Formats: sequence, structure tokens, C-alpha cells
Amino acid sequence: MSDLQTRLIHHPYTPPAGFAAPQPGVYKASTVIFASVAQMRARDWQQKKGYTYGLHGTPTTFTLEERLCELEGGKQCVLGPSGLAAIAIVNLAFLKAGDEVLIPNNAYGPNKALAENELKGWGISCQYYDSMNPADLAARISARTRLVWLEAAGSVTMEFPDLPALSAICRAKKVTSALDNTWGAGVAFAPFEVGVDISAHALTKYPSGGGDVLMGSVITRDHALHLKIKAAHMRLGFGVGANDAEAVLRSLPSIELRYRAHDGVARALARWLKTRSEIVQVLHPAIEGSPGHENWQALCKTDAAAGLFSVVFDDRYSAASVDRFCDSLKLFRLGYSWGGPLSLVVPYDIASMRDASVSAWPYKGVLVRFSIGLESEAALRGDLEQALAKL
Ligand SMILES: Cc1ncc(COP(=O)(O)O)c(C=O)c1O
Repeated sequence: MSDLQTRLIHHPYTPPAGFAAPQPGVYKASTVIFASVAQMRARDWQQKKGYTYGLHGTPTTFTLEERLCELEGGKQCVLGPSGLAAIAIVNLAFLKAGDEVLIPNNAYGPNKALAENELKGWGISCQYYDSMNPADLAARISARTRLVWLEAAGSVTMEFPDLPALSAICRAKKVTSALDNTWGAGVAFAPFEVGVDISAHALTKYPSGGGDVLMGSVITRDHALHLKIKAAHMRLGFGVGANDAEAVLRSLPSIELRYRAHDGVARALARWLKTRSEIVQVLHPAIEGSPGHENWQALCKTDAAAGLFSVVFDDRYSAASVDRFCDSLKLFRLGYSWGGPLSLVVPYDIASMRDASVSAWPYKGVLVRFSIGLESEAALRGDLEQALAKL
């Protein structure tokens, strides 16, 4: 190689002095340079003593980790490349062959699919439990149970469990509990006040807020648990890109404002849909008559219920007819995920997604889930009205 190349590589660089802007910079690195072997040896990626390697943290990701701890009331955080990766990190940190994991019957589907496939293949068994019945969880915990997942509200069907009761059972039985806190997002309630050990969060949703980033976090208050999570995280090689971390850092300060804006419109539309003859059940934790409404009332701030809800159509409407309703929507777009500015809709066949022997799905009609974005209530209601007319 030419000398020019060497000179370009070794060109001196020091970050700008006196540049005291409050926005964190985007620091990218795989390699971090040490001044000496002694310094190299003194640093410790697991104890977060200084910078060691890009995969284990940069000033950008460390800042994001600290702010997420602030959001959720935790002490230590690891970041992963998606919300599902955060779930996988927790599973791989705490489960080994012969162990059992308990997952709510209404949990986020890919959490169950990971347990049914990879975990089972590695000799880790899984059981589903009825998260709306704490006695069912208590009865299923055995000497082999090492991890219990909690989720509030339940994915898609939106039942809101009694989280303090469920985590008290885990504590009494000395089993680690992990909450999928994506719905609450650190805004609706304080996860560690509920008594859970771990909070996993799909930052893809409200923390990112733009529908353009995939990321997840795993937060704890307990240093020993964190060290196990950090070790699994390191061995799996789950890093996140600095640009993505910076995108979440930019959105984080507005999370509460956005969360309440999504919530206000979602609640108004859910209430209105409750009055429609086409709908037999509205599933929204903050709406009276929705499963677990009392648990939501007891735990959450009254103005904090996310922007997500589902409805069950009367079974006089066939699946094809409900598909036509979804296809007719113009502002609501067909697509997975939530937490961004664009409203989304997905029809689900719930009976095929849960184990009926644990908690049967009581409805015959099709369920449709709405993720409310940041459009106006009037515009979204108009869109729903015109699509209902096409049923
Ligand atoms: C409740 C819940 N947890 C976790 C995830 C996974 O997040 P990601 O899409 O970032 O993998 C999702 C995604 O939809 C979710 O709804």
C-alpha cells in the first residue's frame, strides 16, 4: 500500500474541543484503541469499565442505555438489534437444557415460537399459562421452572393481567420474572415497582416512534442478573448500529407526549367502535368491559394506555367480509408493528394462536387489531366509517 494510505489512516484526530452541544454524537466503531496493554487489561466490557470494543458499547449506545434506565426506573441495560432479540437474550441468559420457561398464552407470538422451536430443540421445555388467572401460574411453576414471562397488555387480545400478583408469585417461588414492557413503554407504569426482575422492551415501537428502527433493550435493577444478561449478550454478538441508537436518542425525549397522543385518539375511536352494531367486543385495557380493565385501573396512570386496541366483529361477518373491511381502509395501512406515526391494521385468527386447553378464545367473529398513529381522530373515524360500510 502507498504511504498516502498510511498517512490517511494515521492522521491525528481529536474530537472538537469546547463543542458543548447537548445532543449526543454518533460514535461508530468496531475497534477501540488502547494506549497501552495495561490500559487494555484494566478495561472490562462486562463491568462496563471503559470502552473495549464497538460490540460492547460506544458513547452513543452507553448514553442510550442510561436514558432507557431512566425511562424504566432500572439500573443496567443491554441493547439488542430488535425487540425479539431482547426476548432471545433473556431466554439464552437464564435457560439451559432441562429447564422450563412459562409464557402467557396470549403472549407476543414469536416469543412462543422461539420457545416451541429453538428452545425445545435445545432441551428446554415451555408451558403456557393463563395470565388472567394468577392461580394458574402458581400451579404451573415447578422445580424446573427458571423463567416466567409476563406481558401487559396481552399481545393482540389486549387482556391486562394483575402484574403485581403474577410477579409476587414468581418472587415467592424464587423464579426469575421477565416482563415484555413494550406496551407500557416506561410511561404507563413503572415496571420495577410492580416487582418484576427484568424488563424487555421493543424499542422499535414507542421509543423509536418513527417506524424506521429495529431495536430492543433488556433492563434490570439487579447487578447479578445483569451480569448474566450481559454475558449472553456478548456471546451472541448482538450489537446495534450507532445511527439507529442515535435515532432512538432523538425520539426518546418526546415519548411521553407521543404516547399520550396515540392513547387519546385510540381511546376515542375504541369508545366509538363500542357503539357500532358490527362490533361485539372492544379489547382495550382502558375501556370498561375489556378483560383486565380493573387491573389496568389499579396499576396505570389514568391517561396512559398506549395506542393499540382490537375489536371482535360479529360472527355474521365472514373472514372474507372482514378482510374486505381491512382492504377498504385508506389511512390505516396493512402492516405489523406499532408506535409510529402511521395507523396500522391487521386481522388475526386468534383461536389458531393460543392453546385452548390453557385459556380458550371465547369469540367466533374475526379480531382486527388497530395501531393508532398520530393522524387526527376525525380523519381516522371517517376512514373506519367508510370501510365499515363495505363489510
Ligand atoms: C409485545 C411485543 N414484544 C416484542 C416485539 C418484538 O419487537 P421487534 O419487532 O423489534 O422484534 C413486538 C413486535 O411487534 C411486540 O409487539
